[in-house]
Amino acid sequence: MSASCVHLFICTGTTCEHQGAEEMLQALQTALKQNGLLKKSRVTLARCLGQCGNGPNMVIYPEGIWYGGLEEKGIQRIVREHRSKESPWRT
Ligand code: FES
Repeated sequence: MSASCVHLFICTGTTCEHQGAEEMLQALQTALKQNGLLKKSRVTLARCLGQCGNGPNMVIYPEGIWYGGLEEKGIQRIVREHRSKESPWRT
């Protein structure tokens, strides 16, 4: 992975899957594409992030910020917020 990438781990484990992880993954891919961030992003599907019951869950590095109970409109907000921070998405 390039140091100039934002690494997003999105949980697609059984519990998160039942809580809408697949829809969140699609929304994330769409948001990254719409913001021109695909080449500066690495999305990894996690089997379980150990926060079952609070999902769908995602953690973003290098910041190490966790998100639970993801919703589609929240995905857009998260991408916008990380884009405005000191992150590889800004460079
Ligand atoms: S299945 Fe997603 S945190 Fe466990």
